[in-house]
Amino acid sequence: MSCQICINCHEKYGIDEIIYFCKKCGDILEIKIDLEKVALTIKTGDYKRAPLSVWRYRDFMPIHDATSVVTLGEGGTGLHYSKRLGEILGLTDLWIKNEGENPTGSFKDRGMTVGVTKAVELGASHVICASTGNTSASLAAYAARAGIRCTVLIPSGKIAYGKLSQAMIHGAKVLQVKGNFDEALEFVLKLAEKHRSIYLLNSINPFRIEGQKSLGYEICEQLCSNDAPDRLIVPVGNAGNISAIWKGFKEFYNLDLITKLPKMTGIQAAGSAPIAKAIKSHSSKIIPVAEPETVATAIRIGAPVSWKKAINAINESHGIAETVTDDEILDAQKLLAQIEGIFVEPASAASIAGLRKLVRNGIINKDERVVCVTTGHGLKDPDTAIKMCEKPIEVDAEMSAIEKALGIKTN
Ligand SMILES: Cc1ncc(COP(=O)(O)O)c(C=O)c1O
Ligand SMILES: [Zn+2]
Repeated sequence: MSCQICINCHEKYGIDEIIYFCKKCGDILEIKIDLEKVALTIKTGDYKRAPLSVWRYRDFMPIHDATSVVTLGEGGTGLHYSKRLGEILGLTDLWIKNEGENPTGSFKDRGMTVGVTKAVELGASHVICASTGNTSASLAAYAARAGIRCTVLIPSGKIAYGKLSQAMIHGAKVLQVKGNFDEALEFVLKLAEKHRSIYLLNSINPFRIEGQKSLGYEICEQLCSNDAPDRLIVPVGNAGNISAIWKGFKEFYNLDLITKLPKMTGIQAAGSAPIAKAIKSHSSKIIPVAEPETVATAIRIGAPVSWKKAINAINESHGIAETVTDDEILDAQKLLAQIEGIFVEPASAASIAGLRKLVRNGIINKDERVVCVTTGHGLKDPDTAIKMCEKPIEVDAEMSAIEKALGIKTN
């Protein structure tokens, strides 16, 4: 039977128990899926008849059969072969898995469709999260879809406007905390412990991770090899996503659906890089960053809650972590937009910036099959994009003025 299990002492809890931390040791939990049962169910291959999406993998999800899912059509995002960007970076086999193509514009929707479905299954009528932006946008949308109350806590003034507009228009109660994300998360954790009727949907909630693991599944099914890539690169903030993707790959591997596992490669912004620093110094613990800073507000997190899972994913997969500066992030954002036509938000561009650095430093081989996950759409943060680009030229409404501006000779 599937259950919730502590990642430290392996104490087990029921799949329908509302619990966020182990009662014995206080560590975080993950879902242990009954893979034998999954193997039996998927033997017919019926699941492959459903379109590529999170719910194609319903048999792999800890949701009861009778539950109707809360969905907006998440997953099934494009995996784009990136020949031109690859040539510039010196790679022959580069792919971009563009999670900005999800309903609310980020990978969070994979987690929220499962998390909010579970919330409804458990009878919750009020959901809450702390957020650097995308989690709040996604939770607000799925709560609206489910018809339940939603509260989000965001760091005051440090969230991109597109994301704020999403949380607001979907009708969430938005509280701007005068502090950073880590402080906002402390409050929602305490609130959910104190008021049991409020269901917490940060990535500490292991049902969110279950939805996000579908990212790993999809990549394997989209690649022509029907196997995992050599390397997976993803930006890391609170570290839920890298843990989830690794879980997905491992489950596919344990089900004999793929023959190898990728090197998990996490990229953090230099001003918010506790996990990358721990990996580089071969430490099994992180030192939280008290005042995290970066232009990539989505990953401006100093005390990532899933750090242990992330360090394990990187080490177990023989992967690596790297840091990138804000300038490197913004350069990579522009490069991706102009060379491949893919507009991503700064946090997502961190994966491209990290790839560039690792190729330059000879850590990534030129012929590796690399998949970079771009986690959120560029329109989430138009202000940063506009600041980086040349201003539009104002012209008189006359043909000659337009031709002049274009450098075209008039007859
Ligand atoms: C666009 C984007 N990229 C990356 C991340 C980091 O994901 P995680 O917190 O799961 O590491 C986030 C988290 O908010 C995000 O919004
Ligand atoms: Zn425990």
